[in-house]
Amino acid sequence: MSRSARWIWRAAAALLALTLLLGLLVAWLNVRGESDASVASAPVPSPALVERGAYLARAGNCVGCHTAIGGAPFAGGHGVETPFGAVMAPNITPDLQTGIGSWTANDFWRAMHHGRSKDGRLLYPAFPYPSFTQVTREDSDALFVYLRSLPAVNKVNESHALRFPYSSQAALAVWRALFFKPVSFQPEPQQSVEWNRGKYLVQGLGHCAACHTGRNFLGGTGLNAEFGGGLMPDASWYAPSLASPAEGGVQQWTRQEVVRLLKTGLSAEASVSGPMAEVVFASTQHLSERDLAAMADYLATLPQHEPPAPGRSKPRMADETLLQGARIYKEQCASCHGRQGQGVAGIYPRLAGNRAVTLASANNVVQIIRRGGFLPSTAGNPQPFGMPPFGQTLSDAETAAVASFIRQAWGNAGQPVSTLEVMRIR
Ligand code: HEC
Ligand code: HEC
Ligand code: HEC
Repeated sequence: MSRSARWIWRAAAALLALTLLLGLLVAWLNVRGESDASVASAPVPSPALVERGAYLARAGNCVGCHTAIGGAPFAGGHGVETPFGAVMAPNITPDLQTGIGSWTANDFWRAMHHGRSKDGRLLYPAFPYPSFTQVTREDSDALFVYLRSLPAVNKVNESHALRFPYSSQAALAVWRALFFKPVSFQPEPQQSVEWNRGKYLVQGLGHCAACHTGRNFLGGTGLNAEFGGGLMPDASWYAPSLASPAEGGVQQWTRQEVVRLLKTGLSAEASVSGPMAEVVFASTQHLSERDLAAMADYLATLPQHEPPAPGRSKPRMADETLLQGARIYKEQCASCHGRQGQGVAGIYPRLAGNRAVTLASANNVVQIIRRGGFLPSTAGNPQPFGMPPFGQTLSDAETAAVASFIRQAWGNAGQPVSTLEVMRIR
């Protein structure tokens, strides 16, 4: 063998060994800590435990993803859209063949805490287990007992519609090795019991970070980017940063206002729309005042980071666009939001000085103009006023003009929106 052939042979062997080692490492990272997950005794079902589990299921909005439109609750079939394709939420009713009827409390805990299914399959993080991993074993057992109390629905799971290579377990294993680690909730002893309860709910079952933390191009969330805001996985809406008072942060609000927003969808400062309206409707409105106050306590102490200001200087709109936007506003919007964008307290949100209108991302403004919006109907605001959709009546250029107008009128200092941006967002 010549010297160079020997060299190539050695390099290939080293590469093979390295690949094997990496493979072993990835495999180990995917199952670490699982052996101490099992407990011998199964939870004993009782009406009180079922009720507790039902409450926790609302805190985690399990029904929101695990129910198809018009389908039986928890029987699955709803697709969670991601940049890599749709991940179908499965049937989690206690049906023996198609649901989790054959699961034990240990199997269920492994799914919630480790993100692995009963059959050993790695689960996609479209199931927000990177948040649910912090849920305690007791709460996991209560959830399990509640789900087992539901009527069993026989409905076969649909398969995911993911593109290759994202559809492969190997790719998922690498993703998990890089971005996921099972963790237990760590209370901070120098903080109050309420604050810690709030942190547990926000970071765990509430999975607020699933939307409010940006993702990198691989769908991973950076550790330091917690609650730093980000586009939703399907890129439709922007979930504002909860670290920034200029975006979605509530550090400067009173605790009552935060509770009111999560309970009714409307506060003196803001109103919820789109996916956040669904969160309030299906989840937070059902939580106790005490738990909401605890969440407000925690949210008030999130370290403040302002997102980087857009580098470009604020481009002026062409005069005719401005005039067109002002005209559309007067004809289509002013009857509710007021000539000066002042709104009507408790009914129509003001648009002047409204941070949701001037967010750097134009997604939400465009979405709400095109799709309209209803505040969620809640016990605290049972018959909310709605906004009609303008997607059929306004062209992309007109939508851009009126969106630009409200972002810059009455002292608002938002960036204008181009027709191209509207086309991209819709
Ligand atoms: C944001 C959407 C979403 C929410 C909220 C959600 N899930 Fe899921 N869940 C999914 C998706 C999607 C999957 C499928 C993941 C996969 O197959 O890789 C899943 C999978 C599961 C599984 C594994 C089932 C199996 O057959 O392997 C369990 C158990 C589960 N979810 C329970 C829950 C519970 C309990 C809650 C509420 C505390 C919840 N989920 C909330 C989307 C969600
Ligand atoms: C399914 C995705 C999703 C989840 C989960 C979610 N949010 Fe949101 N949130 C959004 C989006 C999108 C917006 C922007 C639309 C709006 O302003 O309502 C938003 C807006 C907000 C706002 C700002 C309201 C305003 O207009 O100033 C607050 C505060 C907030 N969310 C808190 C939370 C908390 C607390 C949780 C966890 C209990 C949470 N969110 C969970 C998507 C989500
Ligand atoms: C019939 C009354 C009505 C009309 C007309 C109307 N809106 Fe609205 N608008 C509402 C209501 C009610 C809400 C709160 C609903 C929600 O947040 O889901 C709202 C919410 C909004 C928001 C989000 C504010 C926030 O705090 O998140 C924007 C932006 C907005 N409207 C812009 C417009 C524009 C632009 C037009 C005209 C093209 C318009 N609206 C026409 C009633 C109206």
